[in-house]
Amino acid sequence: MRRKIVAGNWKMNMDLSQTESLIDDLMKTLPESDAEVMIAPTFVNLYRAFELLKNNKIEVIAQNMHFEESGAFTGEISAAMLKSVGVKTVILGHSERRAYFGETDGILAKKVDTALKHGMEIVFCFGEELEDRKSDNHFNVVGSQLKNALFHLPADAWKNIILAYEPVWAIGTGETASPEQAQEMHEFIRKTIAEAYDEALANEVSILYGGSVKPANAEEIFGKPDVDGGLIGGAALAAADFGAIVKAI
Ligand code: PGA
Repeated sequence: MRRKIVAGNWKMNMDLSQTESLIDDLMKTLPESDAEVMIAPTFVNLYRAFELLKNNKIEVIAQNMHFEESGAFTGEISAAMLKSVGVKTVILGHSERRAYFGETDGILAKKVDTALKHGMEIVFCFGEELEDRKSDNHFNVVGSQLKNALFHLPADAWKNIILAYEPVWAIGTGETASPEQAQEMHEFIRKTIAEAYDEALANEVSILYGGSVKPANAEEIFGKPDVDGGLIGGAALAAADFGAIVKAI
């Protein structure tokens, strides 16, 4: 059975008191759900988020990490540091990291290896840009993003991988991929994994969709057979919207 997951990526939003009050709202209002619910606050508030959510099933995850173990990498955060405050899952490969911070497939492959070495679970993000889709190159781009960062992994590492397909043109733009576009790409992703590994493995991987998921469109997107949940940006910053999306799954 594939896991159903709704993960909120808070990005560079929410200071300490805002983090506390959003978590408080989520604890009070989040609907019961069979899906796993994750939130990714900024690094400086992870520790506090864990304190607040100690007896709650909302999982606190990180937005990024470095691939080196430790040392002279000013401003960076290691896997061991994340684990020491309780983080078990890390988002890697977000399109904003790729676009603004120069994270290439090669860097991401190293990050993936380090996270797995530390026994962490990964929400691995990838997706094509508008130009790629316009030039009908989106399947090639997505296929090579997967291959370059993940297909060196042995089959048993995949139990720690959650995929998040996020077409860049749909992130924070209010424009979503249609449920059909999402399904078509998720199906392609599963087929690509089946070819590289096998069908059983491909069927076990949870593939989330991300990019302007809102209460109004969540149910339709999550209703597609190969969509196992969502990675939510803007709508994760308001408890009512995030709750409605959790309800939709
Ligand atoms: P969005 O962001 O929901 O605001 O489009 C999604 C993401 O970047 O993960």
